Amino acid sequence: SDAPAGDQRDEEPAVIVVSNRQPYRHEWDGDEVTVSRPTGGLSSGLDAALREVGGTWIAWGDGDADKVVVDDDCVTVPPDAPEDEQYTLNRVWLDEDEVDNYYYGFSNRVLWPLCHNALTTVRSNVQYWETYRDVNEHFADAIATRASADDVVWLQDYHLALAPQMLGSRLSEDVSVTQFWHIPWPSWDTFRACPHAEELLRGLLGNDLFCVHVPRYRKHFLECVDAALPEAVIDWSTGQVFHRDGTTTVEVFPLGVDLDRIDRHASTAEGREGLESFVADHDIDDDTELLLSVDRLDYSKGILTRLFALEHFLETNPEWRGELTFVQVGTESRSSIPAYSELQTDIGEAVARINERFATADWKPIVYTTDYVANETLYALFRSADICLVTPLRDGMNLVAQEFVAAQTDADPGVLVLSTMAGVHDLVGDAAVSVAPYDTTQFVSGIEEALSMSVDERRERFRELHGEIQHYEVSVWVNEVLDRITSLATSDREQNRV
Ligand code: G6P
Repeated sequence: SDAPAGDQRDEEPAVIVVSNRQPYRHEWDGDEVTVSRPTGGLSSGLDAALREVGGTWIAWGDGDADKVVVDDDCVTVPPDAPEDEQYTLNRVWLDEDEVDNYYYGFSNRVLWPLCHNALTTVRSNVQYWETYRDVNEHFADAIATRASADDVVWLQDYHLALAPQMLGSRLSEDVSVTQFWHIPWPSWDTFRACPHAEELLRGLLGNDLFCVHVPRYRKHFLECVDAALPEAVIDWSTGQVFHRDGTTTVEVFPLGVDLDRIDRHASTAEGREGLESFVADHDIDDDTELLLSVDRLDYSKGILTRLFALEHFLETNPEWRGELTFVQVGTESRSSIPAYSELQTDIGEAVARINERFATADWKPIVYTTDYVANETLYALFRSADICLVTPLRDGMNLVAQEFVAAQTDADPGVLVLSTMAGVHDLVGDAAVSVAPYDTTQFVSGIEEALSMSVDERRERFRELHGEIQHYEVSVWVNEVLDRITSLATSDREQNRV
């Protein structure tokens, strides 16, 4: 390189975050614009972080096709707080066929179930795949028009597995590319079920840095590369992969939540009032123990197995009837995929059946709602819960478990009942009450243990959990990933100079 000596980055690089899901949705009706925020821990956490560092966020401009204005693809956000730090949001617009085949198709009928070990739910076809490739091209084009020398492109998640390699021919070498894979990475024995395994891996090896939540996923990823791409050379200790397009470093960066923000929200007047209305609207008896779950309505979250475990608990612990209320807050998601719409029906039916079986004149065991719950109310609900059941069948990380801990206080903390199948379990281990979500007997014992736990033990576990999740608070996570990609770029340049 002929860069002058000392040409190091003394300024922070500009960041271009790229994700499928946008952090804000703008819909125009004539001159009126409505701004809404999609659910999902990922986009809200990253939003706060990007506001701090500034930069650009490129995402699919989903919304009501009649109401989005296609040429208005670039806005400054957040729109409601212009005095705060802001960034630019650029949209990639997709037509209906693209949404069907790329988002509902390859992303959520192939990659999502594949990576969550739900192979019987995978539905793959060539149209899904070809559209997935085309949409990744659209994203790569959008990135290329915005990226300039020394920028960092930071892709998020499984919707954009091919874009990194596509960027290779579109960007100059001094733009760094990194990606965070927010869902599990499965073993090769599962991943090889995908007819496009090799192309997906090559796509991801277009990244300079590829990040996952826990060491298990890193190991699986490297094993997949080893099996599918025989010419790749892997340094297992550093996680470096040397391949025909360059070098990719694979590292572990667990993602956490914003502890202060949750703690603040949980104690606001709006939160307390919201909680009071929630309790009144759903006829919840304040004197009962409150068990809580909050999930996107996804088959990976284990909602049905949780309901069966609760049913079994009520069957075998009749003394608890009338003494506890289980609140399940669910957010509808990906409803045009049959596996999701069927799940919604099954959950509704299971709740109705269990309530019918056990309810009395003035009590019902399960409150199930899919209504929107404001953040303040949600965090106040987390704070007031005696037990939080986070029992996915498989989950990349699970931020709900961390949100619950963040909302609790030391005085009289609730208990986290946590599936061994969630990424976060690898980190907090036995500080939570661990359950194997598929095992009803163990699940019931977990609920019994949580209900009878002494305050001293609850405090001890709470402190341990809280101490642990502080290490990867979302702002720390953002800085660590960005520092790492910057340091890789710097050492790369130095090597080129030698
Ligand atoms: C998971 C994925 C995210 C996704 C979120 C919501 O957390 O890892 O990438 O945004 O689910 O799902 P949706 O399909 O609505 O974006």
